[in-house]
Amino acid sequence: MNGDKKTVFSGVQPSGNLTIGNYLGAIKNFSRFSEEYKTFYCVVDMHAITVRQVPAELRRRTYETLALYMACGLDEKKNTLFVQSHVPAHAELGWILDCYTMFGELSRMTQFKDKSAKNAQNINAGLFTYPTLMAADILLYQTDLVPVGIDQKQHLELARDIAMRFNQIYSDTFTVPEGYIPTDTMKIMSLAAPTQKMSKSDENANAVVYILDSKDDMIRKFKKAVTDSEAEVRYAPGKDGVNNLMTIYHAFTGKTFEEIEREFAGKGYGDFKLAVGEACADGLAPVRAEYERLIADKAFLESVMKNGAEEATYYARKTMSKVRRKIGFVN
Ligand code: TYM
Repeated sequence: MNGDKKTVFSGVQPSGNLTIGNYLGAIKNFSRFSEEYKTFYCVVDMHAITVRQVPAELRRRTYETLALYMACGLDEKKNTLFVQSHVPAHAELGWILDCYTMFGELSRMTQFKDKSAKNAQNINAGLFTYPTLMAADILLYQTDLVPVGIDQKQHLELARDIAMRFNQIYSDTFTVPEGYIPTDTMKIMSLAAPTQKMSKSDENANAVVYILDSKDDMIRKFKKAVTDSEAEVRYAPGKDGVNNLMTIYHAFTGKTFEEIEREFAGKGYGDFKLAVGEACADGLAPVRAEYERLIADKAFLESVMKNGAEEATYYARKTMSKVRRKIGFVN
């Protein structure tokens, strides 16, 4: 809680072009909290450097991610929009919470195991303690609710455990956060390998639909999407490719699975894939248009970042002074 409002926090890494998985699993939901909650949406650049980044690209993507937040409906006057590295309290609390997080807990994180396998040359300590920094992001603002995709559930549970552990040792300090995970779009799958999550770091460009892809690119990618040999548009176990396309179509049109099955009864996958591509491209057209307008105005984006960081710092300071006092740091 902050004042009389409950608090929402979420973050996205500027580590690649954002995908429709990021959009449907997380960003699309952010704006629904703007009125009733105190909302903090952060571009988590410090998390991004756990994997090696090209500096100029990281900088560019930080602007892009902020512009996309706004293009997806986040008004800078109603939401605190900021860049993680602009608020040093994230690093400060991250370190402190490292000392209340067990090696064994971090070793069990599936994302750490996956990322270590993918980055065998660079299994750095930051990759290992990544979830503690994420806990710091969340706990710093006394967050009640964290809108994320299902892949972040394990990290969120760790943040809850850390908060409860700290509260138990030092009396109530942190709000224990809850996740807000959408039931229908919590895990959008790769178009090329539909048993795997769609990921912005996928090397196969056909596997991933980016929010800013052109309409032609989107349609081309959906046309190539892996399905099955059954040629029946039906939501069923084992039909991972079709289930994923139906989920995406449902998300952009609001149609139920039954309605979708009826719409494509007796038709092949070709018609269906084209319809999914068009619905996705049309649904995102306003986001792309608004993004183009925003990204052209760097000075404005910088003013949003600056104001956001000041606002975030104000709230972060309150938590930090409590934490410092409780653990025995001299003021
Ligand atoms: P990141 O940058 O990988 O993803 C941003 C958000 O998009 C969601 N997401 C998906 N949802 C559905 N289907 C998919 N295929 C898909 N891919 C990604 C993610 O669940 C996430 O909500 N650790 C976080 C960033 C972070 C954070 C935080 C989030 C840092 N600190 C504090 C919340 C609160 C991450 O890597 O997200």
